[in-house]
Amino acid sequence: MDKYAVIGNPVAHSKSPQIHALFARATGQAMTYERLLAPLNGFDATVEAFAAQGGQGLNVTVPFKLQAFALAHTASDRALAAGACNTLSRDGAGWYADNTDGAGIVHDLMQNLGVALAGRDVLVLGAGGAARGILTPLFAQQPRSVTICNRTMTKAEALATTFAARGPVRAASPAALAGTDFDVVINATSAGLGTDVSLPWPAALFRPQALAYDMIYGDVDTAFLRWARAHGATRAADGLGMLVEQAAESFMLWRGVRPDTRSVFAMLRPG
Ligand code: ATR
Repeated sequence: MDKYAVIGNPVAHSKSPQIHALFARATGQAMTYERLLAPLNGFDATVEAFAAQGGQGLNVTVPFKLQAFALAHTASDRALAAGACNTLSRDGAGWYADNTDGAGIVHDLMQNLGVALAGRDVLVLGAGGAARGILTPLFAQQPRSVTICNRTMTKAEALATTFAARGPVRAASPAALAGTDFDVVINATSAGLGTDVSLPWPAALFRPQALAYDMIYGDVDTAFLRWARAHGATRAADGLGMLVEQAAESFMLWRGVRPDTRSVFAMLRPG
């Protein structure tokens, strides 16, 4: 049977094995999918050992997305643009790197949540790997503008410069957001993950009908979504849909069939 896994550190919390098992059952694919805990200094060795056992593909999660990109000998355009890899696929003697995170969030926004991106003003909070990974597929939908806002302004500016050729993009400090509002606000920071939930953004970012989207997901509303609702967002969604959609894109790459995601999402979040 073909072998797949999610590799990370930590990885015990990952929902990917459950998601891919449901996909495999629904599409009749004979495959296994496990969790692979790699030591922080042992990513490459763990991947090589997996390959030696016949491993065909890996989902890559924190903190290895840059190392996975570096390990691969070929990469998709979207992985190249992101400079990071969340999906490895066996390619002859080496690995092919892809990045399905951006396609996952765009699919969730447009198909599942019914949010149009064309002609809209989008705010991306954060300028780390998570933000970088979603920008190319976002621009492909031709938003009117993308504003990248980050606590550390130099990182937002660097990202805006890198993506300037792909669409109308600008960098803004949190303070510079005062007096501006948006149709879609995406939290791509790790703020709210820990115990410090103080969020540095000004209020009044949300237009009527605007969507607040947190790339993080949780069993209860995330700190960002609570903040967004308290500051006027009437629509809010966490990243569980993105997780399922990026998994479906990876599955498609590996198996050549795109599984139905709605039923899997409903199983992960009943009601
Ligand atoms: P990831 O790969 O998840 O994007 P990262 O590259 O470490 O992780 O980036 C984390 C992002 O969250 C950065 O944009 C970071 O802002 P800085 O560049 O200013 O550090 C942002 N971030 C983390 N904690 C934050 C907080 N408490 N408030 C605002 N932004 C925060």
